[in-house]
Formats: sequence, C-alpha cells, structure tokens
Amino acid sequence: MWAPFWRLRPSKFCLNSGGRSKKRRLYFKRAGGGMNKSVDAKFDVFFNRCRSERWSRSKFIDAIHGSPKNPLLPEISRRRSELNDMPAQNLHSSYQAKSGGGGPKSVRSKIISLPPSYGKVLYLLASMSKAHLLVEAGSGFGVSSMYLAAAARSCGGILFSFEIAQYADIARDSVSLICPKSRVINADFNYFNSHLSADSNVDFAFIDAKHDADSILRGHKNLKGWLSSKAMIVVDDISYSESSKYAWRKLVRDEEFGFAASVNGRLGVLAY
Ligand SMILES: C[S@@+](CC[C@H](N)C(=O)[O-])C[C@H]1O[C@@H](n2cnc3c(N)ncnc32)[C@H](O)[C@@H]1O
Repeated sequence: MWAPFWRLRPSKFCLNSGGRSKKRRLYFKRAGGGMNKSVDAKFDVFFNRCRSERWSRSKFIDAIHGSPKNPLLPEISRRRSELNDMPAQNLHSSYQAKSGGGGPKSVRSKIISLPPSYGKVLYLLASMSKAHLLVEAGSGFGVSSMYLAAAARSCGGILFSFEIAQYADIARDSVSLICPKSRVINADFNYFNSHLSADSNVDFAFIDAKHDADSILRGHKNLKGWLSSKAMIVVDDISYSESSKYAWRKLVRDEEFGFAASVNGRLGVLAY
C-alpha cells in the first residue's frame, strides 16, 4: 500500500541489470511507527552506471535518505527565510545577452535556490565523500553554498563558490555564517582554477550556474584534471531544458566516472 511521501522510507530497490531502455527505480513502502519520521522525502533514483569502488547502489541510496545531524542545518533554514524576504536583485548582464534583452532583469532567492530536501541531499553526499576541497558554480544567494559549507566544515575542508552577479556579496554573508573559512568569489566559474593552487585536488563539485549544454559541459571540462581520485560532481536541473538534458546524456557517457545516477530527474551525480 502506498503512503504519503513524508511517511515513506526506502525498503528495497529493484534494479534491472539489462538494457539501457529499462528504467531502474527505487521502490518504497510505508514507514513503520508514527508520523514524525526523520526521513521526509522520497527520492527516485535512476542508475546509469555502477562500476565504482566507492559508490554502490545501496550506499548511494542510504546516503541520500540519511538524517543529517549537523547543528548548522537549522541556521541554514533561518538564513533561507531571511533571504526569501530580501528584495529582488539584478541578474548578471550575461542573462540579458542570452535572451536578446527580453528576459527577466532581476531575481529573488526563493526562485533560484535549491529546495531544502535537495540541499540535504547535497550536504549528505558531500559529507559522505569526506570532501576537503569543494567548488560550486553559481552560488546564487548562497543557499546551496551553505549546505556545501556545512559539509566542508564537518570534514575540516573548504568551499570555493563562484557567482558572477553582484549579489555574490549576499551569498558571502550566507556562507560566512556556516563556515567562515569558506569563500564566495565574485567571478566566472570558468576560471575557477586561477583561484586554486596548482596542486589542488577538487573532491566535490556542484554545477548550478547556467543550465544550457554549453555552460554545463564547459564546467565539467574545466573540472577534469583538477579532480581527486574520490571526486564527485553533482549537476543541478539536468531536466531543465532540452539543452540541459542533452548535456547530462553527454556527461553520462564519460566512462571515466564509474558511477552515474540521477535523483528525481533533477540532480545528476557522477563519481569515481
Ligand atoms: C540557479 S542559480 C544558483 C542557485 C544556488 N546554487 C542555490 O541553489 O542556492 C544560478 C546562478 O549562477 C550564476 N552564474 C551563471 N553563470 C555563472 C558563471 N559562469 N560563473 C559563476 N556564476 C554563474 C548566476 O548569476 C546565478 O546566480
């Protein structure tokens, strides 16, 4: 019997071993006990490839359904509400160029920020990766950055998050609440490596800047060569448009990553 999503937890997962066209899905059953279960979201996982020594299907499923205990998470919720109440901020001019000048000129945090359930997934994956150096393309107002910064802090690591728009200042204030040594840089992610020392190795990257194929694939290409042997890349909004879907299909074909999966058709995950 199916239950509302807040009462569900994964009980088993059923995976087809065969051809590409077969969808591999998680199945859920009703959680025992009362309403107040800590597992509050149901994630549908599609595994494209599981040949990683670090990430098995079950480890991944357990990871994304975990209940993070980090005391900084309530502070992230508080800051998220504060950001939601802020006035709209000017979008970076490059968005006007792309839309021929007809697109929106300003943006608010609640429109672009990663929702709480996905923020938790990001936190859990970065923490499980024991990431010491994390990078982010597109800080926005710093909501996703705060989840990454919390993971960085819990692992003794550091986040470098990149935002081209002026509101990088706001993201910086968000991140400094969570991990003062992490940094928000008001610059183009395409040049992220000029902010790192040459011997740096990136353990975790979150790509959430522009969602067209060119930007996503460029981010991925720029990261290669900087990744550590345990690196994970998470791409947000892989189903946002035909262009982002195309980019994700291309990324999945990169056999260098032994693990490739997507969560709710939204987060694309690649890992060694
Ligand atoms: C979807 S929003 C990011 C939201 C944020 N990750 C969150 O969940 O809270 C995308 C952001 O990427 C920024 N952006 C776009 N292209 C970029 C680039 N090349 N380098 C850095 N930031 C970029 C935009 O200005 C915008 O604020």
